[in-house]
Amino acid sequence: MKPELGVCYYPEHWPEVIWAEDAARMVENGLSWVRIGEFAWSRMELTPGDLQFDWLDRAIDTLGAAGLKVVLGTPTATPPRWMLEKYPDMLAVDADGNPRKFGSRRHYCFSHQGYIEECARITQIMGKRYGRNPHIAAWQIDNEYGCHDTTISYSPVALAAFQNWLEDQYGSIDALNTAWGNVFWSMEYDGFDQIDLPNLTVTEPNPAHVLAFRRFSSDQVVMFNKAQVDVLRKLTDAPLLHNYMGRVLEFDHFKVGADLDIATWDSYPIGFLSDRLEVEEAHKAAFLQQGDPDMQAFHHDLYRAVGRGRWWVMEQQPGPVNWAPYNPAPLQGMVRLWSLEAVAHGAEVVSYFRWRQAPFAQEQMHAGLLTPDNRPAPALAEARETADTLAQIGSVTQRKADVAILFDYASDWAWATQPQGAGFDYFRLVFSTYRALRRAGLSVDFLSPDSIPADGYKIILAPGLATIDKDLERSISNGCDLAILGPRSGAITRDFQIPQTGRPGLVGLDSHVDLIETLPPTSKRDVSGGGAACHWVERLSGTATALLTHADGTPALTGTGSMWYLANFPNDTLWDRVVRMAAQHTGLSVYPMLSGLRRRETGEHTFLINYNAAPVTWNGHVIDACDALVLEKGAPAEG
Ligand code: GAL
Repeated sequence: MKPELGVCYYPEHWPEVIWAEDAARMVENGLSWVRIGEFAWSRMELTPGDLQFDWLDRAIDTLGAAGLKVVLGTPTATPPRWMLEKYPDMLAVDADGNPRKFGSRRHYCFSHQGYIEECARITQIMGKRYGRNPHIAAWQIDNEYGCHDTTISYSPVALAAFQNWLEDQYGSIDALNTAWGNVFWSMEYDGFDQIDLPNLTVTEPNPAHVLAFRRFSSDQVVMFNKAQVDVLRKLTDAPLLHNYMGRVLEFDHFKVGADLDIATWDSYPIGFLSDRLEVEEAHKAAFLQQGDPDMQAFHHDLYRAVGRGRWWVMEQQPGPVNWAPYNPAPLQGMVRLWSLEAVAHGAEVVSYFRWRQAPFAQEQMHAGLLTPDNRPAPALAEARETADTLAQIGSVTQRKADVAILFDYASDWAWATQPQGAGFDYFRLVFSTYRALRRAGLSVDFLSPDSIPADGYKIILAPGLATIDKDLERSISNGCDLAILGPRSGAITRDFQIPQTGRPGLVGLDSHVDLIETLPPTSKRDVSGGGAACHWVERLSGTATALLTHADGTPALTGTGSMWYLANFPNDTLWDRVVRMAAQHTGLSVYPMLSGLRRRETGEHTFLINYNAAPVTWNGHVIDACDALVLEKGAPAEG
């Protein structure tokens, strides 16, 4: 596969006379894809039924005539103002009961049937008009589901849909009362119509109620997306995709992804470091203008799994964004480095957001490839250089990694519902696992609980996997030489009860959790021989061998030959020990990396990616600051 570059473009923001020049300039700068349309509903349909597609016809023709392949977005993330006259109750409602009003975007509740029908209608109109247009090479459905906290809505239409969903799931109210443990605090219901949404309660609601609502909310996103997929499948053969966001976990991306052909995501490395990672200030300072060295790769690998191997970066940060608390510029070279890193992880396309900086509205401080007055912004030259580098690299194919992490969205919902300690967070735990593997120079795959290949991996890690039934335990065991579960794995049933078989309740390992402690950030529990537990510590009993112990003698890691259980949330030093032990146990080579340097193996190459602001030397290779060194497979000391 030969990776390509693209850009996000808004023809409706610019005079038509400059479209052709824009298109020619995109091509000159090495771009071959352009995404359009995803927010343009108010220009496609001025008032209900007043359809105006001539401008879009001409925009597509102009871009296509220049040789660009077009990704056409359905505009359903931005319902026009008139839609609210028709459906005043379509707005989402926040946990405090306030409507999330018109005036920005994503102002809809996923459960509103009238709005879903409107989305299907506009999609049908677009599909009929452009489904066979030779310039339309892919379709994007909506834009960034869940962004701006929009998955969960406490609206009246969500309530009605939730009650139906519960009836479907549980069949009878007695079954629901038992499953949720509603005898506690006299929370028993007599009928599904009495069940409210789990907000505005006096103190915390039943976690089973919350988790059910979280599952329901995720299913609503799947249903919403599917309504447009069903329309487009009949009208086009072009691939369908969605652009997901970073660290948005409120809906099951694997389930949305199962209905699409390609997963894409929007990568804003500097924005993410400043606004969505719990890292030390020194780390933030060291990577202020580069982004965290693992955050992008984590999502590349996760979305490769969501797309079943096919994935893109739909929006790549090109310069300062407008939405983080502070918005520094990328260091020279970083836009190219991010793009090459994505390619190393299998991206088919890396597309920059956006072509020209908007001179108006919310994002006027957000950089593009061009300045608002049409001069090149710094990223334009880097896009061009990236295109040249890609031409030199040629084909990039993915190779299956030796190590995989099981990623389960429902575990995030469960642990967000009842964290027990403020430091315990599913993403944080999985990200710390991923970082440890990357510090060991390993390439990593992600797996969903439903797609574990038999006999595929040397090691599968399933940190924090909330619910493990016998089938899942079996497929994890069959999928690898060594499974590492815990902490907090197999800890609850689907209905948020402690399993009668105990925690983690594994057939293959006699270890039982007798007590759980959570720790404040100022506290840790040392592990003999190095490293420590932070946030979360379990006290285990049972006959399984202790492979590591806490300083007080309680097991920190227990195991048999093919299954280990980790009894705490390890700090970095402890994770590094566990990864080394697991690699040794399974005969896997590790490549200890320097801080800020990462390694990724593809079919043909090894990429060494340097996020540092200074050159580094590793295994005899010098990797320049903010640069990627691409080694041919079999080159001396490829590492
Ligand atoms: C993304 C979004 C884009 C744009 C961008 C700014 O979340 O999809 O439309 O708003 O952020 O960084």
